[in-house]
Amino acid sequence: MNPEPRVGGDAETAPRTQSQSSPTGDVSALKTSPAGDSAEAIAPPRSTDAVLETHNLSVYYNTLLALREITIAIPRNRITALIGPSGCGKSTLLRCFNRMNDLIPGARSEGNLWFEGVDIAASSTDPVTLRRRIGMVFQRPNPFPKTIYQNVAWGARINGYQGDMDELVERSLRRAALWDEVKGKLRESGLELSGGQQQRLCIARTLAVEPEVILMDEPCSALDPVSTARVEDLMDDLKDEYTIVIVTHNMQQARRVSDMTACLMPDEALADGHRTGVLAEFSATDRLFTNPKDPRTEAYITGRIG
Ligand SMILES: Nc1ncnc2c1ncn2[C@@H]1O[C@H](COP(=O)(O)OP(=O)(O)OP(=O)(O)O)[C@@H](O)[C@H]1O
Ligand SMILES: [Mg+2]
Repeated sequence: MNPEPRVGGDAETAPRTQSQSSPTGDVSALKTSPAGDSAEAIAPPRSTDAVLETHNLSVYYNTLLALREITIAIPRNRITALIGPSGCGKSTLLRCFNRMNDLIPGARSEGNLWFEGVDIAASSTDPVTLRRRIGMVFQRPNPFPKTIYQNVAWGARINGYQGDMDELVERSLRRAALWDEVKGKLRESGLELSGGQQQRLCIARTLAVEPEVILMDEPCSALDPVSTARVEDLMDDLKDEYTIVIVTHNMQQARRVSDMTACLMPDEALADGHRTGVLAEFSATDRLFTNPKDPRTEAYITGRIG
């Protein structure tokens, strides 16, 4: 159903031929200090139309190896689904993209990660700027105990937004397909909305800071089918302007919404019983679900594992 994007799962190593700077600003804006001053060697990005890329990315929580040697290229203006059994590292991978793992004591990574060709993990990359450009929506809707208006305006205010805030709030709520339901009660608490409305409020809050990438960690798992359908429609609508990465346990959802799917699977059990996540397969969604190449993917999507 969805067109296959130019960046395939195999991420053949075509050199980047031109600057991939974003529409909202120069990638150098991510840097807190000039390049070349840190110990991190920045290897060249591997493919031409990827917004996010990892190369041999491994992630530890203290001594636990949660993810091993993940190499993936997330294509621009597409929806990429991350699927796989519980504990295989989907959320971990998602959090690497905007350095949310920095906030977890004991978390560390090895390998390379790039956003628009900039080394995400470098000490010279500013995580606050990174998180503005790579927004995140969580599993449980988490509006602040503030008004609907304040929820949406919050991030933009913090970032010193100079434009017309009323206009930004309305635009973000419209973009999140929530405006019609809340336009008469913007001064009421965001917590009084239904779960599905709260999730769209959180999406509006993310959109208001005008990110380029939206990471979604099981955004519909707490929602009823009607709310889920609304969020899925919204995602489809947003992908013209944004790159979306969504973690989902719902195979049908992955098939419905995504262009590309990455299947993470637990590798062999370690001595302590933990398993390490590896990337079993990454390809166009239609192909992954109809003709999986990796037997582990097939076992997972047919319900034999997980
Ligand atoms: N904050 C943390 N501290 C220590 N270990 C963690 C932390 N978060 C995750 N882990 C471990 O890392 C591994 C991967 O967890 P992660 O949450 O990324 O998996 P997941 O695929 O998102 O699972 P689920 O589908 O259940 O959400 C697991 O073994 C988990 O116990
Ligand atoms: Mg998770």
